[in-house]
Amino acid sequence: MQGAGGTLGPSLDNVISEKGRAFFLRKVKEPQFNNSSSAMPQMPITDDELEALAEFLSSI
Ligand code: HEM
Repeated sequence: MQGAGGTLGPSLDNVISEKGRAFFLRKVKEPQFNNSSSAMPQMPITDDELEALAEFLSSI
């Protein structure tokens, strides 16, 4: 997650172009699906917010 260059997880700048929108949506809803030891928590984000985030990340 990018927080002004913070270090909470990897940079997401190219994650949608590199891994696809479906991967992104699933990763946020189910962080351990591809990495059972992931430190990433399940975020309380609505489907609308997740869609908006996906749109944003696709645009940068
Ligand atoms: C809405 C907020 C968040 C979104 C959208 C998000 C999204 C993502 C995505 C898409 C990945 C996969 C990156 C890749 O494979 O290239 C990832 C990985 C990761 N995230 Fe998050 N994340 C969020 C919040 C957090 C938080 C709060 C933490 C830590 C407390 C965190 C920690 C991690 C870590 C450690 C990884 C790398 C390990 C793994 O692949 O599971 N994330 N995140």
